[in-house]
Amino acid sequence: ENSPVITIDGPGGSGKGTIAQRVAQSLNWHLLDSGALYRLVALAASNHGVSFDNEESLKILAENMDVQFLVDDPDQPIKVILEGDVVTKDIRTEEVGRNASIVAALPSVRQGLLQRQHDFRDNPGLVADGRDMGTVVFPDAELKIYLTASSQERAERRFKQLQDKGMSANLADLQAAIQSRDEQDTNRSVAPLVPANGAIIIDSTDMSIDEVFTELMNHARSVG
Ligand code: C5P
Repeated sequence: ENSPVITIDGPGGSGKGTIAQRVAQSLNWHLLDSGALYRLVALAASNHGVSFDNEESLKILAENMDVQFLVDDPDQPIKVILEGDVVTKDIRTEEVGRNASIVAALPSVRQGLLQRQHDFRDNPGLVADGRDMGTVVFPDAELKIYLTASSQERAERRFKQLQDKGMSANLADLQAAIQSRDEQDTNRSVAPLVPANGAIIIDSTDMSIDEVFTELMNHARSVG
């Protein structure tokens, strides 16, 4: 229960996911991608025809959905399995992201996912990324990081990712979607996106992934 935790919170597209995976891999610690859990609730609700305002049923899904995270290849995203189906890519769509942000604003959904998130804490340690890892889920974490970047920079990163996958996208639309998700996550009444007390704030707007990783590992060494 009291294994060490490093929390990495911040807005979507700040590079949290990539950084969290690299830090976990280099320390050989467990990894919690809490955003994936909210995405899974949204996907499970769609699959079961549960509407996004049915808070009671959404809570039951959050508590009981059958989810597995498998580390197949440490250099690839973790494989995500929902009720026996591989959904690694399905949970990453814009639509599921939007719906995740809607269900994430419901207190009983957040409550329903709390125990699952705590269960990831195990020796030798845990790296947890999300929006409220340092504020709500692991307030006693050894090291809290708040990773951010300008919405323009985050939109440009997303644009390049989509281009690399051969998909077309519109930069202005991407930036608008990012800003609207930020607004929703920052202004909700439960567990809003805000730096935790004592969090180290890293603005990655003008930093490479390698630079962010190096800075974070320097902090990790000083607490470890
Ligand atoms: O980080 P990701 O984009 O996968 O998160 C999807 C959505 O899940 C976010 O927009 C946010 O609304 C919600 N979320 C949350 N708390 C977390 C992680 C994600 O509310 N700890």
